[in-house]
Amino acid sequence: MPVTLHGVVVILIFYVTVSSGWEETYSNYELVSEEEPIEEGPRLDYNDPTWCHSPSLANGEVNCVSPRGKSYRSTLGTRCEMTCDRGYRLMGKSSVQCLANRRWSGTAYCRRKRCHVLHLNPHGRYTCTQGFVVDSRCDFTCEPGYRIIGQHSRTCQADGSWSSVEPVCTDDDPPKIRCPLSRAKFADPGALTAKVAWDPPVATDTADKALEVILVGQGSNTAFKEGATIVRYKVYDLARNRAGCKFIVRIVVRRCEVLKPPLHGYLSCSSDTNNYGAVCEYHCDGGYERKGTSSRVCQFNNSWSGAPAECKQMEFKSDVTTASALLDQFYEKRRLLIISTPNLMNQEYRLQNLMIQKSGCGLDLRHVTVIELLGSPPRERGRIKERPLHSEVIEGLRQAFRISRSYFSMLILDKHGVDRERFISTMTSDELFAYIDDFLLDEEERDRLELHRDFCV
Ligand SMILES: *[C@@H]1O[C@H](CO)[C@@H](O)[C@H](O)[C@H]1NC(C)=O
Repeated sequence: MPVTLHGVVVILIFYVTVSSGWEETYSNYELVSEEEPIEEGPRLDYNDPTWCHSPSLANGEVNCVSPRGKSYRSTLGTRCEMTCDRGYRLMGKSSVQCLANRRWSGTAYCRRKRCHVLHLNPHGRYTCTQGFVVDSRCDFTCEPGYRIIGQHSRTCQADGSWSSVEPVCTDDDPPKIRCPLSRAKFADPGALTAKVAWDPPVATDTADKALEVILVGQGSNTAFKEGATIVRYKVYDLARNRAGCKFIVRIVVRRCEVLKPPLHGYLSCSSDTNNYGAVCEYHCDGGYERKGTSSRVCQFNNSWSGAPAECKQMEFKSDVTTASALLDQFYEKRRLLIISTPNLMNQEYRLQNLMIQKSGCGLDLRHVTVIELLGSPPRERGRIKERPLHSEVIEGLRQAFRISRSYFSMLILDKHGVDRERFISTMTSDELFAYIDDFLLDEEERDRLELHRDFCV
């Protein structure tokens, strides 16, 4: 009976405070033991519904199995399984039993699960709905100029791991570059090119500051050739995104009409013969002399300066009475080959005469006029081709150049009337021409001769 009574008292007291928490429940038990001290340990009561304190688990669930049914969650021997809510991890024992000492066999609590802290990607950032706890969603964005590659958001999953993988920010925005405007320029005078200069283009990029601008083709401040030249620039950013631009440099060569060479003459022109700044010089063939301007310039307005020159047959008077009067007429125009023979039967003269007659064209090309001094006084004669010379002229020539009447000789005078070479035996025309070509012709005449050599056969 006292056992039953005591049990009733305990039950009553317990019912009053059963809804309180763990600590209170425990102290109630202490209170009871003080009221009724038990010498040999507690008596076991398998029916006591609050033998252990009522199990509870914040953010979790306790599932107890008692032999006496559902409402006996804290009877002696009850076993409880602890499970945590989603997003919480169970720390401690997952299964506890109400023991004879009125305590549970273990403790447990639920700790909020966290995903690891997301690190910050270069050029990226993120914002999360609830930090790094379960079900928080973090949304990723990239800096301007960068594009996100991968999932735009990650969610902290129930198992404490993040969904998907970290997105990356890549720079896929190409740089911008703007070329100078296309331009046209006239070629420089006397040239088919012109120097063109421009400021190199500046490139910009949303992501990168320093960009390398690469020129493809001809550079600034160099000579551009006639026509259109395309100049390109390209630029890469650090992510190898490419951009480019181009412009056109056009060089216009101003030209005059092509000059016609004079009849019995030719032109020698500088540069490209008829471009702005080109100079053309008038020259006349052997036996002809120039009348008019010696040279003309192609002007900016596409017209030639001056008027065309003409080549007129060279005139000379054979009936002058002094040697110098004769020589003056050839000054700077003709070379003279003076042939002297004691008589027309002279072997060397006959041979020479034969060769000279055959090579008239070659002599003309070399601007050579032949003067013949034949025989001795009183039957002495002098001639240029068929035109007779005065005896005073013959005498004057013989004295000025010391030409003997007693033997065959030949003398070459240059265009200034200077005695350059003397021969006392027959010369083939080849030998004669070789001498003139090597020692008497100027550059211009040599070129001209080269062009017309085949003209004389
Ligand atoms: C070209 O320019 C020159 C000098 O600058 C001038 O004398 C000439 O008359 C001009 N010719 C034409 C066709 O305009």
